[in-house]
Amino acid sequence: MEMNIRPRRLRTGVTLRKMVRETRMDKSSLIYPMFIKEGAGIQEEIPTMPGQYRYSIDRMPYALEKLLKAGVGSVMFFGIPDHKDACGSGAYAEDGIVQKAFREAKKQFPDLYCIGDVCMCEYTTHGHCGILRGEYVDNDKTLDYLAKIALSQVQAGADMVAPSDMMDGRVGAIRSILDENGYLETPVMSYAVKYASAFYGPFRDAAGSAPAFGDRKSYQMDYHNSREAVKEALLDVEEGADIIMVKPAMSYLDILSKVKDEIHLPVAAYSVSGEYAMIKAAASLGYVDEAAIICETAASAYRAGVNLYLTYFAPKIAGFIDEGRIG
Ligand code: PBG
Repeated sequence: MEMNIRPRRLRTGVTLRKMVRETRMDKSSLIYPMFIKEGAGIQEEIPTMPGQYRYSIDRMPYALEKLLKAGVGSVMFFGIPDHKDACGSGAYAEDGIVQKAFREAKKQFPDLYCIGDVCMCEYTTHGHCGILRGEYVDNDKTLDYLAKIALSQVQAGADMVAPSDMMDGRVGAIRSILDENGYLETPVMSYAVKYASAFYGPFRDAAGSAPAFGDRKSYQMDYHNSREAVKEALLDVEEGADIIMVKPAMSYLDILSKVKDEIHLPVAAYSVSGEYAMIKAAASLGYVDEAAIICETAASAYRAGVNLYLTYFAPKIAGFIDEGRIG
């Protein structure tokens, strides 16, 4: 048989397969999302996200220590407040839950890189990501609040802020307030390309942030659209975003790849709660091999081009990289 091109030649052994890998993964690109709750002595498992917990501030350090030991150096905090109101004032209170989390985390682990999710839905009684006018989220009014939230997080110690609300113009508003207050060097990671997605379901259970009426389709993107992702990303680049995020990850790898091609900033992907929950559920039933699925899913995001990967599996992925299973 005459055949001079044989792709299998490069697959004959594990060392060679690793040598010719096109995708490399690194623990320093992992970001771990965490839920922090008011109260004391709390570490409660989230029913729809087995293996993920809500921590009170006093229990948080144990989790952070474990995370750092696993080699994950970056976290994203979500706050679960005791009280909510129409304008989400708990999101920018000096002693708000997430502000307290930043202070404590930076005090105990100065090298831990702490990112703040800037949004209102966990803090508003109506569960929407902004200030309402009737039943509609008022874009421009919301911008002032988002800017205040971002500033208060940075003042409490956040190293980076990440607006996830999908209001138009919020990156610019946040950049201005940070600059006016001397935080010229604090980066903004924009959830620039965030789709209205059923994959956020378990998160809304975890954070108690489901909208009380309607849905988020008047601000989050329609999942039929792909060119619009580039429009959103470019706008945020112009407004001064430092990193562009695509969310969710798993069903949106085409978007990720496209954004990576078009935008010359680091690109992040958020593998969201529903992606986590589906893998955990299928694995717990014995339908799939959990570790193998985690590795394959993570590698697919990197293959599509992510520079930063937010995932509830971050410590596990770090372990698999250490073991040489992926990466
Ligand atoms: C806040 C926010 C959400 C997520 C991250 N930030 C929920 C939403 O938009 O409804 C989802 C994260 C996840 O599902 O893991 N707006």
